[in-house]
Amino acid sequence: MPADLIAPSILSANFAKLGEEVDNVLASGADIVHFDVMDNHYVPNLTIGPLVCEALRKHGVTAPIDVHLMVKPVDRIIPDFAKAGATYITFHPEASEHVDRTLQLIRDSGCKSGLVFNPATPLTYLDYVLEKVDMILLMSVNPGFGGQSFIPSALDKLREVREIIDDSGLDIRLEIDGGVKVDNIAEIKAAGADTFVSGSGLFGYGRDSDPNRYDSIVGEM
Ligand code: DX5
Ligand code: ZN
Repeated sequence: MPADLIAPSILSANFAKLGEEVDNVLASGADIVHFDVMDNHYVPNLTIGPLVCEALRKHGVTAPIDVHLMVKPVDRIIPDFAKAGATYITFHPEASEHVDRTLQLIRDSGCKSGLVFNPATPLTYLDYVLEKVDMILLMSVNPGFGGQSFIPSALDKLREVREIIDDSGLDIRLEIDGGVKVDNIAEIKAAGADTFVSGSGLFGYGRDSDPNRYDSIVGEM
């Protein structure tokens, strides 16, 4: 299994000070920046796009940026995110007309590709495309908002996907997103995840107080 990565979801950061927030959470030991893109169509919320990704790069962020697309259609925004400095681009297969083509488009744009599964989305979308996938992201909440509670059925799904990845022998990360906190991360890791998104669990603590405020939380994770 690859080394564990902590992926703060900037959805819960203070957007008025985004560069500073990202610098602080990375300096505290987080590994990759989870970047939630919502379109008020595939999900009922509206967030940030390629301009903000590019701004983080220009600000000096060198850590991998993990772009989680909750948009429909998917394909037309991919080249823009690649140009803006995305490292991973993941998407929900139900939002793509041609899943294989979208995965290929992401890799052809120079990024790492991934599929995202909502709590009720079957894993059959992995059939036939596993070799084109660098990351599998399991949602442990329904997408659209930070601060929701972890849905326990995600643990069984994690175990299933861990087996699929291990049996394949492929180098694929297994990411979990939604309701991940200090107090449940050990159980989630034991179920097979290696990449842990946390939004409100990290940024929700003592916002705008001590610049080192994330240290203990990231450290505990
Ligand atoms: C939800 C997003 C998540 C969200 C996680 O649609 O994909 O990344 O920010 O937030 P928490 O950790 O608060 O559940
Ligand atoms: Zn996300």
